[in-house]
Amino acid sequence: VYANGTAAAALELASPSAVRQPFVIGVSGGTASGKTTVCDMIIQQLHDHRVVLVNQDSFYRGLTAEESARAQDYNFDHPDAFDTEQLLECMGQLKRAQPVNVPIYDFKKHRRCSESFRKVAITCKPASMIKLPFLCELRFNLIVTLKFVHFLLGSMMDQSDADVRLARRIRRDTVERGRDISSVLDQYGRFVKPAFDDFVLPSKKYADVIIPRGGDNHVAVDLIVQHIRTKLGQHDLCKIYPNVHVVQSTFQI
Ligand code: ADP
Ligand code: C5P
Repeated sequence: VYANGTAAAALELASPSAVRQPFVIGVSGGTASGKTTVCDMIIQQLHDHRVVLVNQDSFYRGLTAEESARAQDYNFDHPDAFDTEQLLECMGQLKRAQPVNVPIYDFKKHRRCSESFRKVAITCKPASMIKLPFLCELRFNLIVTLKFVHFLLGSMMDQSDADVRLARRIRRDTVERGRDISSVLDQYGRFVKPAFDDFVLPSKKYADVIIPRGGDNHVAVDLIVQHIRTKLGQHDLCKIYPNVHVVQSTFQI
């Protein structure tokens, strides 16, 4: 059986109820809106290894030496900046309960740390969370996406909060990513803000849950954690059967 396919297939043959199909939660939002913070809070509350976080930033394409020399002119906020094919392949493997190697991205060097990966493996009762700035981009892969996305969380702040996000971004990029204030402001005006309007904001309508105030919203995070716990406890929803999809769940906060 192992020669023929995946460990998941082998397990399914051994015991049809032993294998569950991971469900995926997509988290979208503008820069520094709190996507990572909210995901970390959810994972921390779940206290175990049933949820793994895959960050779309890990799938940034590395820049060539030439591009790197002119990084200030590179648009990191266009969907083409990502290796989406590899991201989807990785998600497919996780869906089949296979471990994956997620690249580690260096924001200072604009490339992946060569030969180093983060091993992500989900065991039983898994759920995957994926942080995607561009949910709308996945419309290009609609079939895959509809199979993948169980529900979407929009950690989206209102346009009026753009100043808060910009302030956070200035602090993060100067402290953690080796940038100066002038380059952060220049990049924000040329690339980040237009991409937010073109790619991120339109994805809001796909969200089942909007979290105002991001990581400050403990009530919303608690409700989401409760929802995930309920889903993980629903044995019948998560078995691997072809053509059976998890029921779309929608709730409002
Ligand atoms: P995203 O993943 O959406 O880019 P992060 O969660 O990484 O955003 O947050 C970006 C920066 O803002 C980080 O330095 C983080 O510590 C900070 N931050 C996030 N949420 C808050 C908050 N509610 N209050 C203060 N700082 C925050
Ligand atoms: O939403 P978040 O702030 O996590 O998105 C990552 C940001 O990192 C993008 O807005 C992009 O402009 C920025 N970036 C960068 N340099 C890179 C790769 C991404 O400034 N090498």
